[in-house]
Amino acid sequence: MDHLTSEIILPSPVFKIDLDLLCEKKINLFIKRDDLIHPQVSGNKYRKLKYNLTHLSETKIKTVITFGGAFSNHIHALSAACHKIGLESVGIIRGEIDENNPTLSFCRKMGMQLHAVSRTAYKEKESAEEVKEILQKYSSYQIIEEGGSNHLSKYGVAEIIDELHFDNIPTPDFIVLPCGTGGTTAGLLWSSNLKSQILSISALKTEHLFEEIMSLCQRKNEEKLKVVTDYHFDGYAKWNDTLLNFMSDFESKTSIPLDHVYNGKAMFGLCDLIAKDYFKPNTNILYLHTGGLQGLQGLRYIQNKKDHHTS
Ligand SMILES: Cc1ncc(COP(=O)(O)O)c(C=O)c1O
Repeated sequence: MDHLTSEIILPSPVFKIDLDLLCEKKINLFIKRDDLIHPQVSGNKYRKLKYNLTHLSETKIKTVITFGGAFSNHIHALSAACHKIGLESVGIIRGEIDENNPTLSFCRKMGMQLHAVSRTAYKEKESAEEVKEILQKYSSYQIIEEGGSNHLSKYGVAEIIDELHFDNIPTPDFIVLPCGTGGTTAGLLWSSNLKSQILSISALKTEHLFEEIMSLCQRKNEEKLKVVTDYHFDGYAKWNDTLLNFMSDFESKTSIPLDHVYNGKAMFGLCDLIAKDYFKPNTNILYLHTGGLQGLQGLRYIQNKKDHHTS
């Protein structure tokens, strides 16, 4: 990661959020802006990739292969990180490859080789024939799991908890963050210095997240975790006007942009829970902004395409 280091902002900055709702309910809400860590390798991607890529630099392996959707934050960040540190990157993409999609065209610019596979093959990953054929093209490689979540990702994420000492804020009663594969939540739980309850707000419809997180963090700090599943907005990468209006209202009041796949949903959920008195007055909450802002270009791209079709 040495070639990334000069551009990295760590510890990521923390700000207090000022909203009428917070005054009314007497809640102290802070936000840790991991989205500002690096222009391209930001948010939980930096945290999750850190030890995966450091580990690779200690081997002779020069190619990293990973999986992702066409607008994936992970694919985007991994292509940029590999480009900067001199590794070959290969992305196995779910569904078709649209050359004009801003995420994939960025990945191409970063030198990532892209291969599309059917949705069925994507689900089966390395055991699918379609995927095996792609893997045969490369002689020596390391696979990094979808979303970058694996046993190494938790070490990078756990460092967030140690950074809180430098952030000059009261110890949070709760840390709130969005959840996809559960790797980021597992990393926070992995920290031996964790003092807060973790509220992990799912961005997708699933019933298994708690157990998936537990298997990634080996049940460490199990009693501190609550997974909230009421704010997925009908499923992964789905959105509606309520969500988009919330995001733009939040940004106009705080100057903090949120993405529509993860942080928009989690912050919406958090504000809704505050409004419903889920937290006692004087609770200190730290919201972890996990990045994903590159996805907003994808959102505009999809909206423009839809407008074009309907006009
Ligand atoms: C911006 C962003 N936030 C949150 C998440 C969810 O993180 P995890 O998959 O580790 O639960 C992801 C996906 O990795 C993401 O890209």
